[in-house]
Amino acid sequence: MKLSIVANESAKKDNKAYALFFVKESVQFSNILSDVATTQVESVLKGMKEGPFEDLELLEIDGDNTIFVDAAKERGLSNLDHLRMAAYRLANRAMKKQLGCVNLFLADAVDEQFKAILHGLYYANYKFDAYKSKQKENFDVTFEIVAGERLKSFKKIAEDVAVEQKAVTLAKNLINTCAADLYPAEFVERAKTIAKYTPELSIKVRDMKQLQKEGFMGHVTVGKGSSREPYMITLDYKPAKRTSKDHLVIVGKGLTFDTGGLCLKPPKSMPEMISDMSGAATALAAIQAIATLKLPIHVSAVCCLAENAIGNKSVLPGDIFKAKNGKTVMVDNTDAEGRLVLSDGLAEAGEIGATHIVDLATLTGAMVRALGYAVAGFFSNDDELALKVINCGEACCEKFWSMPLEEEYADALKDKFADLKNTGSDAGAISAALFLQEFVPENTAWAHWDIAGTAFVDKKWKYTEYGATGFGVQTLIQLAREMSSAE
Ligand code: BES
Ligand code: ZN
Ligand code: ZN
Repeated sequence: MKLSIVANESAKKDNKAYALFFVKESVQFSNILSDVATTQVESVLKGMKEGPFEDLELLEIDGDNTIFVDAAKERGLSNLDHLRMAAYRLANRAMKKQLGCVNLFLADAVDEQFKAILHGLYYANYKFDAYKSKQKENFDVTFEIVAGERLKSFKKIAEDVAVEQKAVTLAKNLINTCAADLYPAEFVERAKTIAKYTPELSIKVRDMKQLQKEGFMGHVTVGKGSSREPYMITLDYKPAKRTSKDHLVIVGKGLTFDTGGLCLKPPKSMPEMISDMSGAATALAAIQAIATLKLPIHVSAVCCLAENAIGNKSVLPGDIFKAKNGKTVMVDNTDAEGRLVLSDGLAEAGEIGATHIVDLATLTGAMVRALGYAVAGFFSNDDELALKVINCGEACCEKFWSMPLEEEYADALKDKFADLKNTGSDAGAISAALFLQEFVPENTAWAHWDIAGTAFVDKKWKYTEYGATGFGVQTLIQLAREMSSAE
């Protein structure tokens, strides 16, 4: 895909098509139809008015190769998400039809609408066929965006969106890669490469020996059963010019595979566990973009990488360890491993001076059952941060729902021998969040995103095929942007 942003439409080429974006309310037909064969467009418009609007998806007019995109179809999507969908469909159609150039008349679109359209185009161009014996290139369509007077601002937006989408693609690729090819040490290599090519980023890596030495025993307890050693990565981006005093630390669960350990998972739910490092992948991708965009705020990312495997060194149910913050934990269920690595990730966030922590984790099956794949549940000890999460999510078409840190369930985490155990009440997602809260450094605003449902889909959903959605990358970037401009 190529994007060409121009003030006025370039000369007509043979294989050029027109895509008319019908942006509800804010873009008038009359403004976007300028050069298009008017009689044909009129007939389409007439057809639209006569038929039920919701039934129209994508119309083509024979002869002049004009594609008409209708933005309103799916239920439950915001206006911006409808636009993403429309652009996604349009790009897919254009690639299938091998159109050389598609014109989008967007001079009247507002910034957010323009962004949403770009998102849709990028999503259509994502595919993960690394494991197919034959790879097929997407047909290289040029999307000519006619921007009119918005030329300069659209060009800047397109540059930023390119950086953000590169990060989304990075996260998706990492998440979709199977555990044989992406294990903790390999994730470390990928992160090092990213740090090397992103000069604004510094990286610190701890191997198992180091983790053990420094007392990150939650992490070690989970990772020691595998022949593939656990690692903790801390990435730091501290720009010289900052408009915010805040230090945002993103902590990601990075289970490159979760067999469940000795409390083995049933076979049906296991293959998807290649995605159990979605939190870490999302954290890495987001900080790469934040650093590349040079957002004026201090941001770090902590990736807690381990493989929850069965081996003769695996943690045994009933084992007790002392976490980095000094609390002792009895491992009641080896499949509740995410909260154990995160307990140390949260401690690390405190050690490096976080004022705000966002942790992301494919943490509980309970969250999948509660909210499904369209909405991520999150927990927070800070109302201001919680509101920001919801608003930033909305701006990025990522839905968040605030869940309660219900104290009444806290006692269920108490153990007879140790301070805590790693399972709690039947309210599975809440119990996991309450467990994490025990490890949040004092006086720190914290939000925990349980992305177990939203990170990975088992069937096509909106603009995502089977697999990773990239959920969270854009909201994290937006959050850093918001936090840097709030003061
Ligand atoms: N990685 C899983 C959670 C998960 C489930 C992610 C489905 C994505 C899709 C997590 O480590 C887990 O197994 N949690 C257990 C906790 C339980 C044993 C207390 C769960 O939710 O069943
Ligand atoms: Zn598990
Ligand atoms: Zn897990």
